[in-house]
Amino acid sequence: MRLLLLNGPNLNLLGQREPGLYGHHTLKEIERELCARATEAGVQLDCFQSNFEGALVERVHQAMGEVNGILVNAGAFTHTSIALRDALLGVAIPYVELHLSNTHAREAFRHQSFLADRAVGVVSGFGAFSYDLAFDGLLNHLRRTAA
Ligand code: DQA
Repeated sequence: MRLLLLNGPNLNLLGQREPGLYGHHTLKEIERELCARATEAGVQLDCFQSNFEGALVERVHQAMGEVNGILVNAGAFTHTSIALRDALLGVAIPYVELHLSNTHAREAFRHQSFLADRAVGVVSGFGAFSYDLAFDGLLNHLRRTAA
């Protein structure tokens, strides 16, 4: 089993960026911890972060035929990117959308997601723990549907 963790714009600033909202963990720490959990679960986890929409789209394309599932925190692109939505649907890889903050408790423009309606599920509001919950949810879904 191989999974891809995708992080979008500004998530490279985790740890420094609005810590009251996003917490004190850096992205490297989150990736390291999730990779350790993945190894324990017998899963290979690839991690990719970019501030560029096209780079994220191309990374999704690369995943076709190689990856069983995608964990995606698309940051602000969640609320704007039809291109990322089309890429995820185009490769037909099951994905879970995740957010550190509860986007529904924030500004109205964060309530819309271009990814949520076709996701296996959405996790939002648990800080860095959202990554763990999304990982468990996606793995459970993939194992259940493969059986
Ligand atoms: C975010 C929520 C988005 O609205 C925001 O643009 C981000 C981070 C989150 O993880 O809470 O960059 O995806």
